[in-house]
Amino acid sequence: EQINKGRYEHYMQKEIHEQPESLTTTMRGRLIQGGSCKATTVLLGGLKDHMKTIRRSRRIVFVGCGTSYNAALAARPILEELSGVPVTMEIASDLLDRQGPIYREDTAVFVSQSGETADTLLALEYALDNGALCVGITNTVGSAIARKTHCGVHINAGAEIGVASTKAYTSQIVVMAMLALAVGGDTISNQARREAIVDGLYDLPSKVREVLKLDNEMKDLAKQLIAEQSLLVFGRGYNYATALEGALKVKEVSLMHSEGMLAGEMKHGPLALVDENLPIIVIATHDACFSKQQSVIQQLHARRGRLIVVCSKGDAASVCSGGSCRVIEVPQVEDCLQPVVNIVPLQLLAYHLTVLRGHNVDQPRNLAKSVTTQ
Ligand code: G6P
Repeated sequence: EQINKGRYEHYMQKEIHEQPESLTTTMRGRLIQGGSCKATTVLLGGLKDHMKTIRRSRRIVFVGCGTSYNAALAARPILEELSGVPVTMEIASDLLDRQGPIYREDTAVFVSQSGETADTLLALEYALDNGALCVGITNTVGSAIARKTHCGVHINAGAEIGVASTKAYTSQIVVMAMLALAVGGDTISNQARREAIVDGLYDLPSKVREVLKLDNEMKDLAKQLIAEQSLLVFGRGYNYATALEGALKVKEVSLMHSEGMLAGEMKHGPLALVDENLPIIVIATHDACFSKQQSVIQQLHARRGRLIVVCSKGDAASVCSGGSCRVIEVPQVEDCLQPVVNIVPLQLLAYHLTVLRGHNVDQPRNLAKSVTTQ
């Protein structure tokens, strides 16, 4: 039943719209409410025998390719915050090219929807040879990465058919947020933060259902952008990953040139591209980076940039006070979970742009769902 398109025209469309359900499945049985006291325990069965080693590791290294790498990037700040362990990022092919240092005291986490990506698999073999504890986060039970890692977590997002990954991305982030809760100590000082994240996780499917209502608005935006050559996406903090992933979605399916950029780097080069024609999406939802993003928006307004701003509900007037821009308002959730909500309108935009431009949504030219050669 899962591999039937049902009432949808394309798998990508179906997979975007089923995210409230896939997220629910990802969390099922893993957030355990502790009887009379309100505390919630995160139960990731596949990791329970290794949790001590992960907590004591000198660093945690995330390894992945494409969308899976972006999901790990989105989860990095919360894992750093709750665990206190340094977290570094590796694109699998780059780790292999450099033969970068991996130590016995490291925990290396391999993130892969298919569990079969050649670069990620080779990086896993390399990390095993170097003696690291290897953890797999995959969507495919019995896949090579699931089999060869010491332990792991299945994201349980259900079969993903569209080449462009959508529901696996959001489920990967949720699994890694749960990993952060599981690894992070349950101290008095972080109790309120942990509770807020757990409450946020429970609410997430309904918030994603709410943001999916932007479908028509994103179709309308796609109509406006249909003939563009290029698109930039700026994000920072938790939503640097949203910028990279939103741009990746647009380029891989709609075949429009699109780049995700760290907003903090804008003045070190990308600002030269800004004029009244180039469309720029700025992710400016409410979190600790909000005032910095407001100043980015002001700088772009000063250069007459053509802005599309993704902001929290109720912030439209304040984010666009210095000039004209198109605003996409999304529901606000706990900051570390906001990337799950924020990517949805960009997935919808990529989908509609592709259909309107007449390209193959589910099988973009030159791409494969799983790249099993180097
Ligand atoms: C291919 C797919 C991407 C995917 C990447 C990593 O390039 O087209 O959508 O993100 O591989 O795949 P994985 O299965 O390892 O997550």
